[in-house]
Amino acid sequence: MLNMKIVSARSVRGKIQIPGDKSISHRAGLLAAMCEGTTRIENFATAADCHTTLSCLESLGVTIRVEDSAVIIDGIGKTGFRAPAGSLDCGNSGTTMRQLAGVLAGQHFDSVLIGDASLSKRPMMRIIEPLAAMGANIVSDDGHAPIHVNGGNRLNGIEHEMKIASAQIKSCILLAGLLANGRTTVIEHIPTRDHTERMLRWFGIDVAVKDDVDRKVISIEGDQMLTSRDLNIPGDISSGAYFMIAAACLPESSIEIENVGLNSTRSAIIDVLRRFGASITITNERVVCNEPVGDLKIAGQFESTKGPRNVLDGKIIANIIDEIPILAVFGTQINGGLEIRDAEELRVKESDRITATVENLRKMGAQVTEFADGFKVEKSDLKGARISSFGDHRIAMAFAVAGLFAAGKTEIAGATCADISFPGFFEILRSVVR
Ligand code: S3P
Repeated sequence: MLNMKIVSARSVRGKIQIPGDKSISHRAGLLAAMCEGTTRIENFATAADCHTTLSCLESLGVTIRVEDSAVIIDGIGKTGFRAPAGSLDCGNSGTTMRQLAGVLAGQHFDSVLIGDASLSKRPMMRIIEPLAAMGANIVSDDGHAPIHVNGGNRLNGIEHEMKIASAQIKSCILLAGLLANGRTTVIEHIPTRDHTERMLRWFGIDVAVKDDVDRKVISIEGDQMLTSRDLNIPGDISSGAYFMIAAACLPESSIEIENVGLNSTRSAIIDVLRRFGASITITNERVVCNEPVGDLKIAGQFESTKGPRNVLDGKIIANIIDEIPILAVFGTQINGGLEIRDAEELRVKESDRITATVENLRKMGAQVTEFADGFKVEKSDLKGARISSFGDHRIAMAFAVAGLFAAGKTEIAGATCADISFPGFFEILRSVVR
């Protein structure tokens, strides 16, 4: 199933299940492995990327059992990992590579992290530099994978001021901080997803967070142990976003999604959709394993009001970073269109998501202007086209939804990459279209 064909839809209706959160599942796997004791993780992501994290952990001597949607991990403690027999293959997953590098930097053995063609082009100096500043011996030829982590070096805590808003960098440093002498501090000027901080606390680690207006200071002492404790992972709001936007834009739609993660560092997609007139109801709000969760209902009585300012820029970008391709598609449906700025990080995701989005929107007849740090899309009548996924799961899924809004037939070439975050996406999409 390499190519997917999508035809225009009148509405989307139904109650759907979305996979466990990808970001939280990566952390759950890694941190549970670093615990003393066994952790059962319910609703672990089906995302291929998260299973890549699990295979790397297995190569490092961790025993893992998968029972339906639960994953059971026998923790081996922070420094109980064993030297892998070969390279650790992180596949397409930046989160696996960057977080694992932080853990490996403080081990006693050498390891090599490799990835697929896309991951091998993504920037890694952003983690190599802070880890080297902590005393790690970590090298790469040109700032990309393969990354050679030479073990046996004692790490020391550092104070790191974040220049790029990236939860992957923050998490890498905090994980290395758990293996370092003294205190490690990360200073964020733009808040990024805080799943690592929340989960570290779940496993008994003291994480100090000082949240001031323009600066968040996160500190961790290295001499702490993680204690296993069962976990339940909420549904991934970034996966839900495709169905939320399909429902918001198609009249007479109704989509219900239970058990969605509503962490405020991830949930700005809801505020953005509401700002432009979408009807979203949240019920049953609760906190599960330190993460806010709720049930969502999105109704398609969407009356596109031109927002006060149809521009998304500045601090909100980190919060909606993975939703920008589908927000671009949303922009074609709302009065005044949508402009995205300050999103240059999109150029170093699984694909250059600015180019991929702009090219595909143009193929579907939308009027788009590309900027170095984003794009502006006008409200447009879309027409079906043959578009490329660029090997990027979020592009494949965003343009499948665009196909629902377009006249005629859309074909997504290379659609199976959706499995990277959302196996079953196309089956669920087929089941809700009317
Ligand atoms: C992620 C953080 C984000 C996001 C990625 C997952 C994470 O990347 O785009 O899909 O789990 O920490 P950056 O931290 O590099 O922005």
